[in-house]
Amino acid sequence: MLQNKAILVTGAGGGIGRGIGEACAAKGASVVVTDLNEAAAAESAAIIRSAYPGCKVVGMRMDVTDPAEVRDVVASAIATFGRLDGLVNNAAVLVDKGLLLDSTPERRALEIAVNVEGLIICSQEFVRRAVDRGGGGAIVNIASVGGRRAHVLMANYSASKAAVMNLTESQSAEWAQYSINVNALCPGGVQTAMLHGAAEAKTMFSRSKKDAQAVRESWIAPQLGRSVKSVEVGYVAAFLLSDEAILIRGQSISVTAGLEHEVLADYLD
Ligand SMILES: NC(=O)c1ccc[n+]([C@@H]2O[C@H](COP(=O)([O-])OP(=O)(O)OC[C@H]3O[C@@H](n4cnc5c(N)ncnc54)[C@H](O)[C@@H]3O)[C@@H](O)[C@H]2O)c1
Repeated sequence: MLQNKAILVTGAGGGIGRGIGEACAAKGASVVVTDLNEAAAAESAAIIRSAYPGCKVVGMRMDVTDPAEVRDVVASAIATFGRLDGLVNNAAVLVDKGLLLDSTPERRALEIAVNVEGLIICSQEFVRRAVDRGGGGAIVNIASVGGRRAHVLMANYSASKAAVMNLTESQSAEWAQYSINVNALCPGGVQTAMLHGAAEAKTMFSRSKKDAQAVRESWIAPQLGRSVKSVEVGYVAAFLLSDEAILIRGQSISVTAGLEHEVLADYLD
């Protein structure tokens, strides 16, 4: 599906980003796994390389909020692979956990800087380089089901993800002229460091004194009877990066395995 394509994934030192890198490699792409944490990026690259020995994978440090570093890493990826066909804007932080009245400017600013501004910086650089070679390519932005509705104790993060969904529509509309397809995925309930942090915040405020484990279990996708895996989010991202997805444009697609829906089994004996 992604043979002869090179894909760059941000925030891929673990969690969903690593799963996306793995899925892209499984579908035949060359992969650049980047992260603020250089050692974590190198570890993801080593894991993907050993799972897919025929696949070209590089791991690099890249802070999505640093335009100069983004420029250098994108240039280096193009020098290594000849071109970049896809970008997955996955890096994000959830730091402003708690009540809106206790929210601080510093924590809000960091979430907006990484989740929104970082995504814009990386997208601009990717598109500029794509335009240099005559256009073509795809971007997948990682939003969240949290961006679709109110989310207590993580309001600012949710607002940042609502911004990602709206930006996805604008990017799609503006960059179609360069034959660049842009879509977003909205995960939920993937057992990563970020989700565990969210569970701890919910636990602190839980009137029923649910422990973090119980909160994490409440995010098990009922239709699957288990949590969604990072690599499964990655398979959908890989499809959206492929030429087969050209009819899907500017969309934000939930990849939660129905987490937000009731299941009939809950009502039957
Ligand atoms: N886990 C879930 O259930 C879930 C649900 C909805 C949305 N998401 C989204 O999925 C994406 C991945 O989340 P995750 O759960 O794997 O989280 P995670 O915290 O495990 O991974 C995020 C990665 O981003 C990196 N990062 C942070 N700041 C960065 C920066 N400035 N530059 C580059 N990298 C940076 C971190 O080092 C980390 O490796 C995020 O966009 C998140 O908002 C996750």
